[in-house]
Amino acid sequence: MRKVTFLLIACLFFAGNICAKQPKGQDRVIKTQVPARPKGQTDVLQLKADPLPTVRIAFIGLGMRGPGAVERMTHIDGVEIVALCDVEQKNTEKVNNMLEKRGFPKALEFYGDTSVWRKVTALPNVDLIYVATNWQSHVTIGVQAMKDGKHVVIEVPAAMSLDEIWALINTSEQTRKHCMQLENCVYDFFELTTLNMVQQGLLGEIIHGEGAYIHGLQPFWNSYWKDWRMEFNKEHRGDVYPTHGLGPVCQAMNIHRGDKLNYLVSVDTRAIGNPAFIKEKRGEDVKEFRNGDHTCTLISTEKGKSILIEHNVTSPRPYSRMYQLTGTKGFANKYPTQGYALDKEEIDPDIAADHENLNAHSFLPADVRKALMEKYKHPIVKDIEEKAKTVGGHGGMDFIMDYRLIYCLQKGLPLDMDVYDLAEWSCLVPLTEISLDNSSAPVEIPDFTRGGWNKLNGLTFAE
Ligand SMILES: NC(=O)c1ccc[n+]([C@@H]2O[C@H](COP(=O)([O-])OP(=O)(O)OC[C@H]3O[C@@H](n4cnc5c(N)ncnc54)[C@H](O)[C@@H]3O)[C@@H](O)[C@H]2O)c1
Repeated sequence: MRKVTFLLIACLFFAGNICAKQPKGQDRVIKTQVPARPKGQTDVLQLKADPLPTVRIAFIGLGMRGPGAVERMTHIDGVEIVALCDVEQKNTEKVNNMLEKRGFPKALEFYGDTSVWRKVTALPNVDLIYVATNWQSHVTIGVQAMKDGKHVVIEVPAAMSLDEIWALINTSEQTRKHCMQLENCVYDFFELTTLNMVQQGLLGEIIHGEGAYIHGLQPFWNSYWKDWRMEFNKEHRGDVYPTHGLGPVCQAMNIHRGDKLNYLVSVDTRAIGNPAFIKEKRGEDVKEFRNGDHTCTLISTEKGKSILIEHNVTSPRPYSRMYQLTGTKGFANKYPTQGYALDKEEIDPDIAADHENLNAHSFLPADVRKALMEKYKHPIVKDIEEKAKTVGGHGGMDFIMDYRLIYCLQKGLPLDMDVYDLAEWSCLVPLTEISLDNSSAPVEIPDFTRGGWNKLNGLTFAE
């Protein structure tokens, strides 16, 4: 008996010791630095700039993505296309020919090398610089554009490292110029309608969200991006393209408008698809390809919500941004099946009159979903839906993004997305890499607002 008691005490002692040595809670989180805000500098939450009845734009980067942006702008009143810039002359020429064909005056052309854009950001008669270059050049151009007194919008992901993110934030705060990431997926019709449902409480409180970029990019690697995008994947591990998946979920969760991203953990697979692709197309044996085929990232928020984000650009899978929201009263899902499930009491009796026994165990029938989507169509879409679908750009969402950007600049309103959205959605690029290189350790997500994340009460689109 004595022996048993001794053993029991010994076990408890050792267990206690082991537990005492286990780091607890936040101690396990890899900390990230938040540089102090320089004296005299304030945040740019709800930043307003002087109204610009005519928005004079210069475009830098006219490869696959840029020309479509120029074309879309020709469908918006009160826009002047002043300058076109690319390393390659054939790219500026092609877009200028398009402008001429559409009855617009030709723009100034800048081409020849990777520094020629400096002349463009310095132009005196430009209000907005629209950047659609490769990832590696976004921030140098963006920072200089703001220093040269221009608002700047940058393709996704706008920034690839924490230093780059802080450079954009600090420059925007210093210069009081808008710095927006061109995240088009938050403007897709299903996402906007669902956001409106969320904001009107139909799904209850959103407790979990999912998003992804799952897109086999094999047709694009050689034709468009030469080497820059594959090179980045070769040299970096993690979710290098997180913003399409994360943006719409953050909006539904009011991130930095009442909640904030606290930390993330990532897990990835081996790299198989991309090295095999390089071997097949170029006969090259790549020994050290950093980025795994599939990366999963889990994020925890201050208000106790969770987010799952996935990245896979190589496996044979149907395109998917997932977009899934779980609320306390309902559920929304975009890929592979668009649908909603709602608690019985949330189902509008008028809309569901022809159906009995509807409940959240199944998606709502197609006619009920259609009627709901009509009822909850987002106000910013109503007037421009038809035009957006005609002009196009990923089915219209790109046009809505550009239209909203110009609308807000013309009226001197805050933009729909600010530099802190840019930071939160892009920061997965460096932070997932840190987590993966540390056996999936939790990594702190900085409060990019430096204390302002709870100042705003929910997301609004200025009207
Ligand atoms: N939002 C979306 O749906 C979407 C879709 C595709 C691409 N993108 C993003 O758009 C950006 C551009 O992608 P892309 O597919 O058009 O790439 P791309 O390589 O086809 O085009 C980039 C262009 O930028 C030019 N360029 C590079 N450096 C330059 C410099 N220093 N000065 C001037 N021009 C320079 C290149 O000559 C090239 O024509 C990337 O950030 C990408 O992630 C976004």
